[in-house]
Amino acid sequence: MPDFQLSERVAIVTGASRGLGAAIAEGLAEHGARVVLSSRKQADLEAEAAVIERRFGQGRAIAIAAHAGREPDLRRLVEETLGRMGRIDILVNNAGTNPYFGPLIDADLGVWDKTFEVNLRGYFILTQLVVRFWMGEHGGAILNVASTGGLRPSPLLGIYDITKAGVIMLTRQLAKELGGKVRVNCLAPGLFRTRFAQALWGNPEILDRVLQANPMGRIGEPAEIAGAAVFLVSDAAAYVNGQVLVLDGGGGEGL
Ligand SMILES: NC(=O)c1ccc[n+]([C@@H]2O[C@H](COP(=O)([O-])OP(=O)(O)OC[C@H]3O[C@@H](n4cnc5c(N)ncnc54)[C@H](OP(=O)(O)O)[C@@H]3O)[C@@H](O)[C@H]2O)c1
Repeated sequence: MPDFQLSERVAIVTGASRGLGAAIAEGLAEHGARVVLSSRKQADLEAEAAVIERRFGQGRAIAIAAHAGREPDLRRLVEETLGRMGRIDILVNNAGTNPYFGPLIDADLGVWDKTFEVNLRGYFILTQLVVRFWMGEHGGAILNVASTGGLRPSPLLGIYDITKAGVIMLTRQLAKELGGKVRVNCLAPGLFRTRFAQALWGNPEILDRVLQANPMGRIGEPAEIAGAAVFLVSDAAAYVNGQVLVLDGGGGEGL
C-alpha cells in the first residue's frame, strides 16, 4: 500500500508564512510531520505556526525567520532546526520573488541579481547545508517549487522564468548526484490565488487569457498544492526522483 505518512519526520518549508508554502506546511503537518516554518517575518511565521498547532497539536510547528537568499541566515536556520528538532528529513524550497515585470532586454542587473539570489542561489545554498549537515548521512527528500514559467517563456516574466528553469535543472542534477539516498523532485504550479500572483489573477485581461486556455476554467487554490507535495516527499513516491510535477489544471501557463 502507498505510504503517505510523515510521522516522526521533520520538514523545513521556506516561504511558509502564507500562500503555497503555508498550504504545503499544513499538508505535511496533517500527515504527521513536525514543520519548521521559515520566511523573513517572525510574527507572520508565528501566526501560521499557531494555526498548525491548533489543528494538529502542540510541538508540531516552530517558526524561524531567515532571508532565503542569504547564507548566514540559512546556516542559522539549519543549525537551529537541528538544535530544536534533532533532524531534517524533508526540505521544501518554496520562497520566491519577482521584483520585475517587463521586457527581459530592458531589465537592470539589480533585479536580475535579486531574483536569482532568492529563487535559485538560495535554493542551492539551503540544499547544500541540509545535505552536508544531515541528509547526506541520514537520507531525506527535497522538494523545489518551480513554475510552469520554467518550462516555457511567458511575456514580461523573463528573469523569473529563467530562475525557475534553473530550479528544474537544479532538481534534475541533484537527483542524479545524490543517488536516491536523497530524492529531489520539483513542483511546477500554474497560476494560483496567492498574494505573490495577485498582479496576474487580479488583472482581468491576463486572468481572461489564463481561463480561456484552462480546461478547468479556473485558477488554482493554495490548498490544492498540498497533496502533490505530501506525495513527493513521502514513501509513496519512493521511486520518484528528479521529476517535475505540473499543477496547472491542464492549462499550460496560458499567460
Ligand atoms: N502563486 C502562483 O501563481 C505561483 C505560480 C508558480 C510558482 N509559484 C511559486 O510558488 C512559491 C510561493 O509563492 P506564493 O505564490 O505562495 O507567494 P506568497 O503567497 O507571496 O508567499 C511567498 C512566501 O515567501 C516568503 N518570502 C518572500 N521573499 C522571501 C525572502 N527573500 N526570504 C524568505 N522568504 C521570503 C514570504 O514571506 P516574507 O515576505 O515574510 O518573507 C511568503 O512566506 C514561489 O517560489 C513562487 O515563485 C507561485
